[in-house]
Amino acid sequence: MTLLKSTNLSKTFTVYKRLGLFKRQKKEVEAITDFDLEINQPIIFGLVGPNGAGKTTFIKHCLGLVEKSAGQIEVLGYNPYLRKPAFLKQVGLVSGQKQNLDPNLSALESLRLSGYLYDMMTAEIEERINFLVDKFEIREKLEVPVRQLSLGQRMKFEIISSVLHSPKFLFMDEPTLGLDFDAQNIMRSMLLELHREQGLTILLTSHYLPDITLLCSRLAVIEKGKKVFEGSLSELMQESGRDGYLKTLITELQKEDKKNA
Ligand SMILES: Nc1ncnc2c1ncn2[C@@H]1O[C@H](COP(=O)(O)OP(=O)(O)OP(=O)(O)O)[C@@H](O)[C@H]1O
Ligand SMILES: [Mg+2]
Repeated sequence: MTLLKSTNLSKTFTVYKRLGLFKRQKKEVEAITDFDLEINQPIIFGLVGPNGAGKTTFIKHCLGLVEKSAGQIEVLGYNPYLRKPAFLKQVGLVSGQKQNLDPNLSALESLRLSGYLYDMMTAEIEERINFLVDKFEIREKLEVPVRQLSLGQRMKFEIISSVLHSPKFLFMDEPTLGLDFDAQNIMRSMLLELHREQGLTILLTSHYLPDITLLCSRLAVIEKGKKVFEGSLSELMQESGRDGYLKTLITELQKEDKKNA
């Protein structure tokens, strides 16, 4: 079963630099170049790399949010660019930089709204909310306005909102960005549970080592739009790493490993 397959995927953005009042210079930015990736079983897959490497751009392609320049991409057997309702119902997106929940609504109202946006039936929405708030022990906060929740509590509802429609594949762009330790741990244990119990496949990007070491069974390292490594964590740690980001990453992982030994 192929869950995700990209072949020679490339994206070039055209940007214009102002040179004066009337003059501007056209510049091409290669965000991703010949990017191949295949995910064939439900796993938590990590996509890591330095700032500007192309991680967010890749996720946007997976959801059909930006036009590709070349190559192919297929997610759950669909062409994401067509944005077919049947496809959208099976995928979800969590971005650490953008909240799904409306701060002015209660968590419950906000979750119901997410459900309607996914075209779910009222009874199905209620059933799913009930199941998830009990599972993640947050029922008592359902009526509280989102803006009055603690970071960790809001995180729980953010995740609940992103899986309310029971997606098969969840894309997460720096989901732990800016979270304190508690909220990061809550996030990680929720993702592991959803993966183990519901068979959710997750592709996530992160700059935090624990996200990689505790969650991801397989990862790809991307630098300047190109994949420079793909494999398991132990395979990565056995690499010597020529230079640049890959080498730094391996060194940091080995340090962590020694600390925990
Ligand atoms: N809409 C856009 N227009 C022009 N250039 C863009 C656009 N979006 C991204 N880029 C460029 O594409 C490259 C990849 O950006 P991207 O956001 O995918 O990186 P990233 O790996 O997610 O980085 P970060 O870790 O900082 O989030 C960068 O050089 C960026 O400036
Ligand atoms: Mg990014």
